[in-house]
Amino acid sequence: MCYVTGAIMNEKNNGVPIVQLDNLEVDFYKRKGILTNPQRLNVLHKIDFTIDRGEIVVVVGESGSGKTTMANVISGQIKKTDGSYKFNGHEITSMTKEQISEYRSSIQMIQQDSYAALNPMRTMIKSLGDPMLIKKIANKSNLLEKVSKVLETVELTPTDHFINKYSHQLSGGQRQRILIARALAMNPQLILADEPVSMIDVSLRVSILNLLARLNQERGIAILYITHDLATARYVGRNGRIAVMYLGQIVETGNVQEVLANPKHPYLQALLSAVPIPDPRLSRSRKKAIIMETDLPSLSNMPSGCRYHTRCLYCKEICKSEQPQTRQYGASMVACHLVEELPKFELYDKIAENQ
Ligand SMILES: Nc1ncnc2c1ncn2[C@@H]1O[C@H](COP(=O)(O)OP(=O)(O)OP(=O)(O)O)[C@@H](O)[C@H]1O
Ligand SMILES: [Mg+2]
Repeated sequence: MCYVTGAIMNEKNNGVPIVQLDNLEVDFYKRKGILTNPQRLNVLHKIDFTIDRGEIVVVVGESGSGKTTMANVISGQIKKTDGSYKFNGHEITSMTKEQISEYRSSIQMIQQDSYAALNPMRTMIKSLGDPMLIKKIANKSNLLEKVSKVLETVELTPTDHFINKYSHQLSGGQRQRILIARALAMNPQLILADEPVSMIDVSLRVSILNLLARLNQERGIAILYITHDLATARYVGRNGRIAVMYLGQIVETGNVQEVLANPKHPYLQALLSAVPIPDPRLSRSRKKAIIMETDLPSLSNMPSGCRYHTRCLYCKEICKSEQPQTRQYGASMVACHLVEELPKFELYDKIAENQ
């Protein structure tokens, strides 16, 4: 087995990340009626984010925090409004034709809804094979062999059984594997997986997550994994990094194990304290949840200062007027004015530790 870490691959590439976003902004415009001016919605704000070769990065955040928008910018489906996006060191807006072609096949997306992502009129050999023919990764004589190979990699065997199937003849888990196979067929450097297991049976989820982890470890494919579920984030990203998003901003990043064991940002602390614990003994000894009483504010009525201040238990005057800079704090990068003065976050009471 060939184990490729992000660091080793990066040395070969002079440390240039696959994706580098600096001060990136994305605005959408919403019109209430034909006579009104469109309203600007700032969906991504001051995003500084990198994905190195061969690494796994998990992005977590509530619904509406901008996770999919960020993935869509990275895959090129949405254009940035401002800031910089570099792919393999090249600014996205000034790439040559060859660089654009490399970019298009190097970044592949796995969608949440596998049923919608596959054409119901096409068999699997067509769904997987046509992009290979277009990109000249296969020709008519070796197509069957190449398609069978990617099906084997995603553990859809015997491959003959799947090759002539239509998407409705497959289970949700099998369709999700087909999407992974379709991405793999392009020899990607990075796979963007946007909630890829949220629509399949719980019993099948772990096997899909393990498949992605295996592709990362054995082939050095970088993975950006999007989820709103912290347990999944912890599992998928056990060897990687995490970025926590809130209302279009990244509020905390760092090594997954460290960030989740020692969360610094009050938003992440609140998310962690709200995760249900199935063990009643642990649940009883858990500290009171830091409940966020209000819903995520609307993009059309963005809070001033720190975007989280309207829900933050520790909010001070400065939080209402000034946006916090992202700073290194311990092993994490955190965007919070008060990070030095917050009480230490403990999930359980002391009594529980001695039990
Ligand atoms: N085309 C669009 N026009 C206007 N607003 C949009 C558009 N696409 C997304 N938004 C808004 O941008 C915000 C971020 O959306 P996005 O889909 O990126 O969130 P998300 O974190 O992926 O949420 P979820 O967990 O529900 O998938 C949301 O408030 C959404 O309503
Ligand atoms: Mg989304």
